[in-house]
Amino acid sequence: MEMSSLCLLLLLNSLHAGSPKVSVTLSPNRSQFFKRESFSVSCEEDEEEPGTTWTVMKRTDDGEVSQCASSCSISAAYPATDSGEYWCGNQHGATSNSFNITVTAGPVVLEIPGLPVTEGDDVVLRCRLQSHTSGWAIYTAFYRDGNIFGGSYTGNITLFKVSTSDEGQYKCGIFGSDKSPESKLTVRGRGSAAHLLSVFTLLRHLLVGSPFLLSTILLGLICRDRRKVQQAKRSRQTSTAVIMEMEHCRVYPYT
Ligand SMILES: *[C@@H]1O[C@H](CO)[C@@H](O)[C@H](O)[C@H]1NC(C)=O
Repeated sequence: MEMSSLCLLLLLNSLHAGSPKVSVTLSPNRSQFFKRESFSVSCEEDEEEPGTTWTVMKRTDDGEVSQCASSCSISAAYPATDSGEYWCGNQHGATSNSFNITVTAGPVVLEIPGLPVTEGDDVVLRCRLQSHTSGWAIYTAFYRDGNIFGGSYTGNITLFKVSTSDEGQYKCGIFGSDKSPESKLTVRGRGSAAHLLSVFTLLRHLLVGSPFLLSTILLGLICRDRRKVQQAKRSRQTSTAVIMEMEHCRVYPYT
């Protein structure tokens, strides 16, 4: 009995530890940066947990993993050292979702959200030429998975009411200049993200809370049983005492 409830508690504890309680944030929220631009990555805990420290992790394109403190401010980004995958991790091995950043030495970047966008949102993609003085219209082409899907003279294009079918690898090309690097756009379902999370949280609280409720009920039952047993014992004792007394009574007159 005690062993099985201990096992249940351990199982629930591991479930609790396995769920993500941290989000990785990126400011400004862009996947691509020119060399020497600045950005910062940090970990935001959804729920404070004592004894857990989250750090920003970075895997550069050569495969090397390094870590910042709880936030990672890069004031002058360099392609080799700051391009790569970023995520949050804690000392117990739990991780958040991740995203990729490209720092380029080239003349063109595509400003595309680095963090997942929500289904139904309008997403603006902006193509920037490093040396470009504004007001001078040049034709810009936008590519998804290697194919041109649109163009503009403003350098911007809007993806209206995005759905998961808009996910893919995006880049842009400015006429007469280079193309930007390629970056992935991730679209997250509106319902699934928020609802699933709250259902999970509710379930987790229920699951974590119920052992305490159960043990309280069990304790109550055990106490009641014990009291019953004691009562039974007491009544048996009194009845034997009565019998003994009766025997005494019976025996006494004859002696
Ligand atoms: C980041 O880039 C690496 C290497 O191209 C890839 O394996 C990984 O899936 C990417 N991560 C995300 C979140 O897109």
